Amino acid sequence: MSILAVLGGQWGDEGKGKVVDALCECSEVVARFQGGANAGHTILIGEEETILHQLPSGILRENIDCILGTGMVIDPISLMQEINNLTKHEIEINGRIHISLLAHVVTPIHKTLDASREASLGSMAIGTTKRGIGPCYSDKISRTGIRMIDLRDLSLLKSRLEDKLRQSILQGFILETEKNDLFKEFDDFYKASEKISPFIEDTISLVHQYIDEGKNILIEGAQGTLLDIDYGSYPYVTSSNTVSGNICTGLGIGPKSVDNIIGVFKAYTTRVGAGSFPTELDSSEGDYLQRRGNEFGATTHRKRRCGWFDAALGKYAVKINGFTSIAITKLDVLDALEEIKICTHYENGAYPSINLNEAVPHYITLPGWSRSIGNVREFDNLPPQAKEYLKTVEGLLETPISHISVGKERHQIIEI
Ligand code: GDP
Ligand code: IMO
Ligand code: MG
Repeated sequence: MSILAVLGGQWGDEGKGKVVDALCECSEVVARFQGGANAGHTILIGEEETILHQLPSGILRENIDCILGTGMVIDPISLMQEINNLTKHEIEINGRIHISLLAHVVTPIHKTLDASREASLGSMAIGTTKRGIGPCYSDKISRTGIRMIDLRDLSLLKSRLEDKLRQSILQGFILETEKNDLFKEFDDFYKASEKISPFIEDTISLVHQYIDEGKNILIEGAQGTLLDIDYGSYPYVTSSNTVSGNICTGLGIGPKSVDNIIGVFKAYTTRVGAGSFPTELDSSEGDYLQRRGNEFGATTHRKRRCGWFDAALGKYAVKINGFTSIAITKLDVLDALEEIKICTHYENGAYPSINLNEAVPHYITLPGWSRSIGNVREFDNLPPQAKEYLKTVEGLLETPISHISVGKERHQIIEI
């Protein structure tokens, strides 16, 4: 029995879905513990690309049970769409989806509030995914939220939602003119809530039952360390704790039960939305990474900002999460570069969660390998320059690399 977590070490989109899917072979359960439909985890199997937002990436493998844990914020409409999409592809989901009855519910009101708050911030906007994440977590912390357990009583749910709408209009957060559109969305929300009701259960007992049965459990993080509400680049962050400390509260397990934590890092850095990004490239090299890496958001389709690998952030992420090993993804994207830079530290001693906007990156330059590595499956068969690059990252992060991803496909991974 083991519990293994896979978490993002940067600003999200590191390839967590791909790594979780690859590791699923040895697991019986995959669990999400935070976030919601702001996540977009891409898995490519043959020609078929699937983007998962709320369902754990284990859902694509037949015998894996999937838990949507207590720390998540769940949007029934979006979840229903995801489930419908999978059943269209003949993936059996019955008995495999377990939603915590204590998880909070994202309602159409939260999504409207997310969009209007962003609009009101003007040039200070965070660039959220507009999935209602911030407003839903705000309600949770204010102790006014709706939880999955509340979806079981539809008439009470209706009156609570209508009350919330009245309050939001009175407070001036939602316009009277938006009311009719919202009422239409409420209908979809009630329908979806009814449909997902059978999946709602006590996942605390379930997780502990799995642990007692000696099952291998994979924990799938969403977003990344620098988007963490406490340890990220505040205020340009998401509204949950994305780091390993939250695994315990998000699933209801003790800190000693997690055996290993893999930090997933892209071989370079990307970011979607606003906020500091010390190694961002406003140059042809940045365009190269964006194009070759096909860096578009999996949820919002926005172009991702691109830059060099930042080991100062990497070291920080290792400390905050206690990563026991590292997975480097998208190494193949660097294939055609003659030279590759890595930021080793900040020259002025800036600290990630404190004054990242002041950081002055110090770079070293390494030679590229100028050949395709997509077919390599053994570390020893990588070009010497690629090995040097990986060894340098490993040394800077003072953490062993356990996995190297060299392409989008499930099998394009090197295990060390
Ligand atoms: P996640 O949110 O961390 O799961 O990552 P996303 O799915 O949002 O973004 C990662 C993107 O990179 C997806 O389009 C993946 O298919 C793709 N990807 C993952 N690993 C690799 C890799 O090793 N090489 C290449 N070229 N693409 C990859
Ligand atoms: P995955 O799981 C990348 C970013 C948004 C925005 C900020 C706040 O696919 O790695 P939110 O909607 O959460 O309130 O937005 O966080 N963001 C992500 N960026 N990957 C994600 O998830 C993200 N989820 C949120 O772009 O900057
Ligand atoms: Mg993503």
